[in-house]
Amino acid sequence: MPQLSSLVRSQMAHPSPIRQIMKMAERQNILALGLNPDDVISFGGGWVNHPAPEEFRQAYEEVVSDPALFHKSGGYTATLGELECREQIARFDEHLFGVQGLGPEHIAVGVGSTQLTHDLFRTLLDPGDTVMLLDPTYANYEGQVAFAAPGSPIVRLPVIDPETWAYLPVTDPGRVIAEFTRLFDEHRPRVVIFGAPDNPTSQILPQAVADAMSARTAEAGAWLLIDFAYKCQCFGTPPAYYAWSPAEHPHVIGIHSNSKWARALGRRLGWIEAAPAVIDGLERVQQCSLLCPDTLSQMTMARYVKRAIADGSLRAYVDRTSALYAAAARTTIDAVDEYLQRPRLVPSGGLYTVVDVGENADAFVPKALQATGVLVVPGRGFGPSITNGVRISYGPMVMTPDKIREGLERLGGYMRR
Ligand SMILES: Cc1ncc(COP(=O)(O)O)c(C=O)c1O
Repeated sequence: MPQLSSLVRSQMAHPSPIRQIMKMAERQNILALGLNPDDVISFGGGWVNHPAPEEFRQAYEEVVSDPALFHKSGGYTATLGELECREQIARFDEHLFGVQGLGPEHIAVGVGSTQLTHDLFRTLLDPGDTVMLLDPTYANYEGQVAFAAPGSPIVRLPVIDPETWAYLPVTDPGRVIAEFTRLFDEHRPRVVIFGAPDNPTSQILPQAVADAMSARTAEAGAWLLIDFAYKCQCFGTPPAYYAWSPAEHPHVIGIHSNSKWARALGRRLGWIEAAPAVIDGLERVQQCSLLCPDTLSQMTMARYVKRAIADGSLRAYVDRTSALYAAAARTTIDAVDEYLQRPRLVPSGGLYTVVDVGENADAFVPKALQATGVLVVPGRGFGPSITNGVRISYGPMVMTPDKIREGLERLGGYMRR
């Protein structure tokens, strides 16, 4: 039997710690622990659970029930996506967040931000180029960099104080900017990437920090990537960089996804907003990785967005949805404070909080699951700064807040035993 590539073999030796934990939640593994799967409460999933817009579902129905449109949905589109879909996506971000000057030339459509981020790293990085990540941040970036630019080192900018559990960009932006500048000048990254809000912290970098990152990357000829997977789950006034446009900031690239705002996790569609030269490069990469994004998803997206902007239902939906997640976040934090009584981050958006459990969470999580039937995700996979932390996701339970309280009550009983 011939061997797999050495790159794949080395990555298989380092599977995502989050995936490993999620495996523990699989039925056969829960049964093996002697637990009843129906009693398990999982805060592990990084997914949303609110209904998709009804008008979006109707757009699918229209396309699927019309033989000519259904036939069309079985054809390829252009590699960067259908023009109409790219135009409507540009309008979407202008309508919701005030992004000015966006046109289809700034948009590349793909099958979700996972594929797009990988292909974007492929587009921007040469092997060996350094990438700067926050610590902690989304656990998938490391593997995506490893596959797209083998041998590229990663440098991490700490954002949580492990002693106080303060989110430093908010509590001490000057210190974070100074450390960012020091690390940047020392390591000269080609790409800096952060999530807004980020996973697992659900914190939004303040404008001053984003300004400093933008200025330094522009000056040094580096790229600044902002992962907007949770852009629509924003619980306050968004910072000004939510409206940054590649027309004005050509070195800033936005990564976007339908997964979280529209509960379209499995109807794979995402897009990149970038300067036309980046979009052209991405097109060349996507010719090899994707050929074209999903046509049915593009057709329905274009139809839905056009109508939902016109009748005001898009903004109403996004506001309603954001309010649901803000309420679930409040329920979660109140229950953490009541039952866990441990340092935690109050979400500014997104689906998560991070709680300091005061011991190595790789050991804590399986013991807590066995004792309580409650699953949380250990922090180490997101970065070493939260090795003693766990990510708690309220996303899957956004419609069932009682489950959030019940799960955290059980976990708290175990922690304060
Ligand atoms: C920060 C971040 N980016 C991207 C993704 C993946 O999104 P998509 O479904 O668009 O691939 C996730 C999923 O959890 C995420 O947390």
